[in-house]
Amino acid sequence: MTDSKRTKRQPLDEIEGLRQRTATPPVGEQGPAESQTEQALRHLLESADHERELIAYDIHDGIAQQVAAAIMQLQSYEHLRRTAPGKAKVAFRAGLEMLRLAQGEIRRLISGLRPPVLDDSGLVAALVHLVQNRRAGGGPRLEFHSDVAFNRLPPPLENAVYRIAQETVTNACKHSRSDRVRVMLTQEEEQLRLEVRDWGIGFDPAAVPAGHFGLEGVRERARLLGGKVTIHSQAGQGTTVTLTVPLAT
Ligand SMILES: Nc1ncnc2c1ncn2[C@@H]1O[C@H](COP(=O)(O)OP(=O)(O)O)[C@@H](O)[C@H]1O
Ligand SMILES: [Mg+2]
Repeated sequence: MTDSKRTKRQPLDEIEGLRQRTATPPVGEQGPAESQTEQALRHLLESADHERELIAYDIHDGIAQQVAAAIMQLQSYEHLRRTAPGKAKVAFRAGLEMLRLAQGEIRRLISGLRPPVLDDSGLVAALVHLVQNRRAGGGPRLEFHSDVAFNRLPPPLENAVYRIAQETVTNACKHSRSDRVRVMLTQEEEQLRLEVRDWGIGFDPAAVPAGHFGLEGVRERARLLGGKVTIHSQAGQGTTVTLTVPLAT
């Protein structure tokens, strides 16, 4: 889904509902200073809220539209089937095609949430898969290097590192205008290190306008893992996003 689409549309009621249910009181109404645990919990709720919001937008733009269109086609099939069998057949086929598209969209959404390859084969295989999928879509030349001793990691850690890679690779492909993007996964004793680098236009990470949740989510995930994200970016030189997370829990 594109940002322009998102800004053109009124917020969905359901999304607004979600936001209100998980919203935190405005600054100044929070009472005495939050403890670290309270703060961590609030951040967790906020990042889960953003994610639900994005998923809701995705569903709204994709599956919900296709299913609505399929219903319309199948209703017109119903009306036309006795009086105009030729037209009815066309409507039926169109309806079926819409449902097939919706099915593809559902698969895409599910694999975006937690790709089966991550569950089945672990982080390294999932990153290979991510890079291969991206290559198939054109864009910058993508490289993936890994040098790690582990086979599997705890599922929440695998998932978070994968999502961070997914977001930062998407950013590099979408925003950097680099012709090359490199992903490196390495292990230094008890630390896991993920580096996503491009040689593109660069940007100021401290001046990201409101309403962009990608890097915010990256930082939040890293924090919840007890890890750290650093972004080095220079105009015309490109961007390097580095995540380090402790492996020993
Ligand atoms: N690798 C990159 N190269 C250039 N600009 C980037 C890069 N990554 C992020 N940005 C800039 O930072 C902004 C915020 O990124 P992000 O939080 O992921 O939101 P979004 O991708 O939805 O715009 C982007 O809109 C873009 O301007
Ligand atoms: Mg992004």
